[in-house]
Amino acid sequence: MLKVVSGSHSQIHTPLRESAFIKACRREPTPHTPIWLMRQAGRYMPEYRAVRDRMSFLELCHDSEQAADVTITAARALGVDAAIIFADILLVLEPLGVGLEFVKGDGPSIREPVRDPARIDALQPYDTADRLSYVYEAIRLTRAELTEVPLIGFAGAPFTLASYLIEGGGSRNYVATKQLMYGNEAAWQRLMELLAGLINSYLHSQIDAGANAIQLFDSWAGCLSPTDYARFAAPHSTAALRGISERAPVIHFGTATSGMLGDIRSAGGDVIGADWRIPLDRAWEAIGHDRGIQGNLDPVTLFAPTETIAQAADDILERAAGRPGHIFNLGHGILPQTPVDHVKFLVDHVHEKSSR
Ligand code: CP3
Repeated sequence: MLKVVSGSHSQIHTPLRESAFIKACRREPTPHTPIWLMRQAGRYMPEYRAVRDRMSFLELCHDSEQAADVTITAARALGVDAAIIFADILLVLEPLGVGLEFVKGDGPSIREPVRDPARIDALQPYDTADRLSYVYEAIRLTRAELTEVPLIGFAGAPFTLASYLIEGGGSRNYVATKQLMYGNEAAWQRLMELLAGLINSYLHSQIDAGANAIQLFDSWAGCLSPTDYARFAAPHSTAALRGISERAPVIHFGTATSGMLGDIRSAGGDVIGADWRIPLDRAWEAIGHDRGIQGNLDPVTLFAPTETIAQAADDILERAAGRPGHIFNLGHGILPQTPVDHVKFLVDHVHEKSSR
């Protein structure tokens, strides 16, 4: 029987607490550098495409058994050190009734974007325990089956979620988002507070259900100046993470954030994500060595010959210099056309090369 350990991060059962991934989150020495990959369950994988032939992306997310199965299949196929629950950051927006859709080939879209203060005030907070229960069930099913590696739960950060709500989808320049932010700060702060509250209870429930670590995705925070990030986004990310680090390690991730890694660290997290636009050693200095770091291979490197992948991975490992607290990952998610054998090659290579 698994024994529950008391103290900080007390949700974690003994064997997983001693896993390379969780130890690295706590900056303890590990026998090898742990690796997992953002979007490790996705369209580049034939097993995933077979499931998607049968159901839409949202149907798959809502089907706890299928979502657990996709999570476990990807983690086992790759031999990675952690699984991430199959879901999406935008699911939190669905119960707000804004018309969340995933249009084939076009990515996510919000049919009724929220841009004026009246619509923001009309948004009703909802009970995340009830409306997102299918995610917790997927976590429970995954944890019951996948005993060998920890499971990461996740959510989008308030800024990144707000950008989808306001723009109605992905965006290049975030003009509508920044217009609201600058033009009506009170309405902006109300929207961010609403999102932070939903995210915080969602994350606590994921830990209750058995998630062993949490990743907060602030994928688009890098479109902000560091000054605007600190004023308009960071306090709400801190609120979204309230009480979470005390229960499970937190990875705080963003892209294009090379100029604001210190600000992201200040907003919260035990491990800070870095993308490939900054060398890992410089990123770690900016974050501070009293936090872990996750990253930072360019996802497009996986399209290169394996010798190139090996060289790029070695460069990252050398910059980490064996310092405890490095979790190997890409700087952003795996792209749909990525060759699966190259992904497996990377996982094996990082394990072999970092073994100590
Ligand atoms: O394996 C995993 O990493 C877990 C599952 C996961 C998905 N989305 C599944 C998904 C996770 C952690 C996410 C997070 C997510 N979703 C982010 C943050 C990470 C990042 O990439 O910055 C963001 C911004 C989203 C929003 C989102 N969802 C976009 C922009 C897209 C379209 C892009 C694309 O690849 O199609 C999605 C759809 C999505 N989420 C897919 C998957 C596997 C593809 C949907 C499909 O099957 O067609």
